[in-house]
Amino acid sequence: MTMAPEKITLLENKRILLGVTGSIAAYKTVDLASKLNQAGALVDVIMTEAAQQFVTPLAFQSVTGRAVYTDLWQPASAGNGLPTHIAHVGLGEGADLLVIAPATAHTLAKLAQGLADNLLTVTALAARCPLMIAPAMDGGMYMHPATQANLQTLQGRGVLLVEPEEGRFASGLVGKGRLPETPTLIGHVRRALGGTGRLAGRRVVVTAGGTAEALDPVRYITNRSSGKQGYALAQAALDAGATVTLITSAQHLPAPTGAHIVPVDSARSLRDAVLHAVQGADVLLMAAAVADFRPAQVAEQKIKKQDNDTGITLELTRNPDILLDVKAQRTTDGWPRVVVGFAAESENLLANARDKLQRKGLDLMVANDISAADAGFSVDTNRVTVLDVQGGQQPLELMSKTRVSELIIERVAALLTDQTETS
Ligand SMILES: Cc1cc2nc3c(=O)[nH]c(=O)nc-3n(C[C@H](O)[C@H](O)[C@H](O)COP(=O)(O)O)c2cc1C
Repeated sequence: MTMAPEKITLLENKRILLGVTGSIAAYKTVDLASKLNQAGALVDVIMTEAAQQFVTPLAFQSVTGRAVYTDLWQPASAGNGLPTHIAHVGLGEGADLLVIAPATAHTLAKLAQGLADNLLTVTALAARCPLMIAPAMDGGMYMHPATQANLQTLQGRGVLLVEPEEGRFASGLVGKGRLPETPTLIGHVRRALGGTGRLAGRRVVVTAGGTAEALDPVRYITNRSSGKQGYALAQAALDAGATVTLITSAQHLPAPTGAHIVPVDSARSLRDAVLHAVQGADVLLMAAAVADFRPAQVAEQKIKKQDNDTGITLELTRNPDILLDVKAQRTTDGWPRVVVGFAAESENLLANARDKLQRKGLDLMVANDISAADAGFSVDTNRVTVLDVQGGQQPLELMSKTRVSELIIERVAALLTDQTETS
């Protein structure tokens, strides 16, 4: 038996109105509705007449478990907690976000003009929540000056635009106009809903993944860090409304929507990226696993074995201690305001973690026991203890890296609030 997908805290019990219009990409948003529902959102779908040529209301009803709205002239059904007399007002009133995906050129034109001739366009006018549009159409239609002008008008009014992607259309033509895949759309929804969170207006720098130290042009020394905890932290910071820079060597993981990605490999490239990114930043979450040592020499050519070789000796040299460098920089310019370190230890976890917290001038230390099979590297769960400068110790039970991240972000937000209040 597989586990049910984890709810997304930010989406739980949020009312999302999903407007679906007459594009071939309408089939993709059945998956979007399904994933939003699984994440805990309450999804009410409004379909245009043209949309129903591509997908049936039953498909959306089946994945959301809720009534689907198609007709301006039909009262909303009871049971969704909406007023039953005027659907468009009730739907718009209760929603946290109206997402139109896919949005046809036709519907975009109507929205830009303020036309209101079907349930979706009337609701878009009546709704007080933010409106997000995800256009999907053939490249020629998308680039047409009329469509571009309509998009500009809408963005000028604060409508959130999910840019379509380049690619191949159902027609066989190639261009810009494809609806992004579900994870990207959900990333945009999270961005829209998280904008007013506890870290709104804050700049957060997160590091993720293990460093790779070159031996020769084809080989390197690395460690078992997967980058998952760092990516979860970046997503939790985004959900809390922060502007996020994710400095990462784990570029195989899907990038959280909205994060500014800075790719790195060695400890030294990570150090340079961190010292640059933390200038003016509020928070540094140092989840990357940085190698303490690197090969003293990097061979220019691939190291070859000789017939009589029985082994070779590698000489290693110390890498910079990035958190000590951050501490020095912070002493002179004050940035970042809050620094969180991560200690992965296989023995004497808490003593080592507390020592690092003090030596490196951290505000919080997340101590990570990597000796357990269900915590630490690669797996999706973690068991950590959060240490603070006052000597506080918060042991967390085994939980997903997502939940661990949310709790760390809570602690960070509280520290920032304390600093603001005492400054
Ligand atoms: C097979 C087919 C595919 C279509 N795909 C798109 C599309 O991807 N994007 C678009 O803007 N219009 C597309 N159209 C045209 C729209 O369906 C048409 O403009 C319709 O009036 C849109 O109505 P609505 O915006 O109320 O849903 C397509 C039409 C057909 C017949």
